[in-house]
Amino acid sequence: MAKDPLKPLISHAKEYGFVFPSSEIYGSPGALYDYGPYGVELKNNIKTYWWKAMVQVHENIVGLDSSILMHPRVWKASGHVDAFFDFFVDNKVTGKRYRFDHLVEERIAKLEKKGKKEEAESLRQQLEKALSEQNTEYMYEVLIKNDIRDPESPDKTEWTPVRHFRLMFETNLGAGEDAITAYLRPETAQGIFVNFLNVQKTARQKIPFGIAQIGKAFRNELIARQFVMRMREFEQMEMQFFIRPGEDEHWFEIWKEKRLKWYKAIGIPEEKLRIKPHDHLAHYAKAAVDIEYKFPMGFKEIEGIHARTNFDLSRHQEFSGKKLQYFDSDLQESYVPHVVETSAGLDRVFLAIFSEALTIEQLGGGKQRTVLKLHPILAPIKVAVFPLVKKDGLPEKAREIFNQLRFKYMCFYEEKDSIGRRYRRHDAIGTPFCITIDYQTLEDNSVTLRDRDTMQQERIHIHELEQRLDELLDWKTLLQKVV
Ligand code: GAP
Repeated sequence: MAKDPLKPLISHAKEYGFVFPSSEIYGSPGALYDYGPYGVELKNNIKTYWWKAMVQVHENIVGLDSSILMHPRVWKASGHVDAFFDFFVDNKVTGKRYRFDHLVEERIAKLEKKGKKEEAESLRQQLEKALSEQNTEYMYEVLIKNDIRDPESPDKTEWTPVRHFRLMFETNLGAGEDAITAYLRPETAQGIFVNFLNVQKTARQKIPFGIAQIGKAFRNELIARQFVMRMREFEQMEMQFFIRPGEDEHWFEIWKEKRLKWYKAIGIPEEKLRIKPHDHLAHYAKAAVDIEYKFPMGFKEIEGIHARTNFDLSRHQEFSGKKLQYFDSDLQESYVPHVVETSAGLDRVFLAIFSEALTIEQLGGGKQRTVLKLHPILAPIKVAVFPLVKKDGLPEKAREIFNQLRFKYMCFYEEKDSIGRRYRRHDAIGTPFCITIDYQTLEDNSVTLRDRDTMQQERIHIHELEQRLDELLDWKTLLQKVV
């Protein structure tokens, strides 16, 4: 069997306290993960970067934190109750399970690679028809007619009928005869739509304006593969931008560009990002693209940009009986605003950033080091403080510096092991700066400041440390690149 290209990332994430399989001691149920001490720091830093880039620097974007459980009619209105399904098929011989759309998309990609454009187009149309009609018998026919086999065991393929599966998790609100069926939200967006007027009025926003939210979303994903790429509980960073009808294309282009800048500013190279238009549009979308990152297993979606028209607000207006209109004082008319949405999967962005950063460097003499070259702003620990040795007053001096810096930055004090081993450990978790206190420190109050990527050390006076770190960890320089 082919080696999993994500394996080195998964091992590093586990060994260094970034990501663990959930409830591992019971044999994790799969597609559920826990973020460890460094994982949660990195994840929080990504969230802060997104929040600052969206809410802080845009005066016309404000935040929201809506509840996970909502009135079940929300999901009827949004279309999720009737249309949010996955279609799957099992290979009777091997017991392996596949998503119908993934099998067909894989074949389309192969045909395109071989230059068989017409065949690929015909198959794309069949996929489109099957999904829009949600016709499982036709789906089975598509597999058989096109001789689509189990990619892992092509010679041993015998498909079961195609079945469908609701992606939303159900739960109960209340108890006994009063209990009603509710759903764990499958996207954060609906919390924004139903609060559209509350936010617009209280934040005194005029169209165009956006509402941003970071929060958990839940999908009962059937096929759990590729680490945190496809989870049952994950986090989204979503922004709905409310606009005048007819301006959809204009804002769609603007948000595509802005979101690409956000990834590039943090160190993802341009050639590892691409924009891919959707083959099959979701039930709410008029236009949609994915931002994809080149993972070790190939390009995969990390964020979706969708022109959702006024579908959601109109449906909520219809289902709730409450007006969700905006009076545009410049046009002197009321309308249901249209929406362009940017929807990033936090866990996938985490994986993209982690994947980009993880580097094995050859040091000569057969030696190598593993270094996580994260942008310093995202690094879990910003500064590690080491006394060279555990005696002669060096730990006390090092603690003094640690106590001065920890109120400003996430710092780490460490005195165990040789200095080389301590540097290597911090290289592996991405700490950009290490400060070492040595005998010279006791004489002239200077320390060494080591840069993770170049491994260069400079001598610097203790009184200059804070200012130097402020320059190296400057939000302003980063945020000016993303507007
Ligand atoms: N509100 C629109 C929406 O939810 P989506 O394309 O279904 O659109 C947006 O999801 C993003 O959420 C995706 O680009 C992906 O990064 C992330 N995502 C979706 N399902 C996921 C899952 N099962 N596990 C991890 N991330 C997921």
